[in-house]
Amino acid sequence: MSAPPPVPPPPVPRHIAIIMDGNGRWAARHGLPRAAGHREGVQAVRRTIEAAIGHGVEWLTLFAFSSENWRRPVEEVTDLTFLLRHYLRSELRELAEAGVRLHIIGERDRFGSSLKAELADAEARTAANRKLNLVIALSYGARAEIATAARRIAEAAMAGTLDPTTVDETIFAAHLSTAGMPDPDLVIRTSGEQRLSNFLLWQAAYAELVFDDALWPDFGAANLGRAIAEYARRERRFGARPGPADAPPDGEGP
Ligand code: IPE
Ligand code: IPE
Ligand code: MG
Repeated sequence: MSAPPPVPPPPVPRHIAIIMDGNGRWAARHGLPRAAGHREGVQAVRRTIEAAIGHGVEWLTLFAFSSENWRRPVEEVTDLTFLLRHYLRSELRELAEAGVRLHIIGERDRFGSSLKAELADAEARTAANRKLNLVIALSYGARAEIATAARRIAEAAMAGTLDPTTVDETIFAAHLSTAGMPDPDLVIRTSGEQRLSNFLLWQAAYAELVFDDALWPDFGAANLGRAIAEYARRERRFGARPGPADAPPDGEGP
């Protein structure tokens, strides 16, 4: 009797991006100030990074603060930047030991010079790590990112260093803050909201979307596992027809 054919492992997304939403509602439900929700959200970040490494995910992008979140009251913005600084200081060594390489995307110039220096230092200190690429999106907005890319391309064309007739999707993507990173395969949003809120609009063109009702501070390994299992059940077609990739074409165009 011949051995049964090996069952391929379920596909794990190479790049997972998460819109971590619901900290404020979590705090309200527990009768706590919003800052407590954000603090608890940091615990969920820890759990999620560990679980992602366990699944062999190569890239994990976390939406921590949007360009539009500057519209929040100054006390909340201060709480969030304080937490970020605290997170970097307390976790960097552990992240580095776990083989995590940190990347920051977003308008980092909007932060003060000392936080900017800490972000650059964290990236430099983890630059040789290869286990998990952790991308933190800070003051990130996809429309601003796309407009900036367009401006840079226009400037390069004006300066004569880029031939505008060569600009295609690959060249455009190389001018985004995510240049060199793979596109996300799976985008997860927590808290039951079903929108992208200006997150990775270019990069997520063909991402699978999973919405989880959990509020971000309640998110953990089980939620990530369910999202990955849901991803494994999806059929990604990228505009082509379902079925075997080598199906013969019908003919020469319409
Ligand atoms: C997500 O939680 C964290 C950030 C946007 C910084 P929220 O603060 O948006 O929480 P809700 O949506 O008000 O519950
Ligand atoms: C999206 O959440 C931004 C982050 C998770 C950092 P928001 O709470 O800011 O999004 P909206 O305002 O509900 O769309
Ligand atoms: Mg929210």
